[in-house]
Amino acid sequence: MKASIALTPGDGIGPEVVQEARLVLEEVGRRHGHHFSFTEHLLGGCAIDARGTALPDETLAACRAADAVLLGAVGGPKWDDPTAKVRPEQGLLGLRKALQLYANLRPVRPLPALSHISPLKPERIKGVDFLVVRELTGGLYFGARGRRPSEDGEQAFDTMIYSTGEIRRVVRLAFQLARGRRKLVTSIDKANVLETSRLWRQVAIETAKEFPDVKLEHQLVDSAAMRLVTHAAQFDVLVTENMFGDILTDEAAVLAGSLGLLPSASLGAGPRGLYEPIHGSAPDIAGQGIANPVGTILSAAMLLRHSLCLEKEAAGVEAAVNRALQEGKHTADLGAKSPLTTSQMGATIRERLLAGPR
Ligand code: NAD
Ligand code: IPM
Ligand code: MN
Repeated sequence: MKASIALTPGDGIGPEVVQEARLVLEEVGRRHGHHFSFTEHLLGGCAIDARGTALPDETLAACRAADAVLLGAVGGPKWDDPTAKVRPEQGLLGLRKALQLYANLRPVRPLPALSHISPLKPERIKGVDFLVVRELTGGLYFGARGRRPSEDGEQAFDTMIYSTGEIRRVVRLAFQLARGRRKLVTSIDKANVLETSRLWRQVAIETAKEFPDVKLEHQLVDSAAMRLVTHAAQFDVLVTENMFGDILTDEAAVLAGSLGLLPSASLGAGPRGLYEPIHGSAPDIAGQGIANPVGTILSAAMLLRHSLCLEKEAAGVEAAVNRALQEGKHTADLGAKSPLTTSQMGATIRERLLAGPR
């Protein structure tokens, strides 16, 4: 098949990890007779520097025209001035919103071979295999915000708004995905305090009627955060609003062993998606060639699966990653004694891809 992939490497370690994922996709293309074409576009801090905006028109147009987008990360200390009018993160949020990618899938499936790397006891990680479905285009991230004078000087506000339609479409997707798994949806909210959460719970209960074969449970976000590190194996599909999902998935990365391992897929109504690791631009290690490319490579596997319908190829990439990790091929974040560099890790995964079954 032919497919066009827009790359937005972004800032910090973004370009380093996207390069490795691109090489993996090229290898998959060669091996299976697909023609993937790539174009590169500015997004985030690098776009602010070059164009004065975090999401240039040409980047958005190219992402709209592509079959899929592979993103590295945006942001960094250079653009962190709290009074700045333009911020790198606006590029990422603007892209998600413009492409109407309302669901962010973040699978968490720690490898048994890595259980010693997590600070958690191995028995807490055993059998963990869940999928977080994070709402991505609503909530606090997109509600009205601002500052205004107050009696003591100034006050700031952010607004959390959700409509029934916004909740229903993402909860429905969570149920559909649960059907192909262990048929349990845990809806996470703060319904004891927030009105948006009470509406969320109500819509989740209504939506569950369409899926009598799938069990629905509700959990408050604070206790869900605890359960993630005590009994995570009980979870199958978690569905939650934008910010809760952001926070819970960085926490979930501890189960896997490193933030550098987790991938994500952002999906909307059609096949086009945006694929990115869940980590950020990691300014503390940027430019050293030591970032873990696995989260981005696994995001490329999700791209093959969800946007290009290439399930066999996606599974092949995942198997190659698992094989490399199981053989002890590790980057520095995994605590390796003699760690591989970013490009060595990428090359090792591509070799396992070549060695794998067709
Ligand atoms: P971060 O995810 O960039 O880094 C947190 C820690 O994890 C750091 O110690 C970092 O070195 C480590 N880490 C992250 N990815 C790694 C990898 N692939 N390999 C090895 N180690 C890795 O979070 P932060 O430091 O809070 O944020 C830095 C910047 O990134 C901020 O500007 C933030 O807004 C941005 N950010 C962007 C995205 C995105 O583009 N999707 C996501 C999160 C944060
Ligand atoms: C993520 C990031 C982003 C988010 C930031 C950089 C806007 O943390 O993709 O998880 O909060 O969605
Ligand atoms: Mn995040």
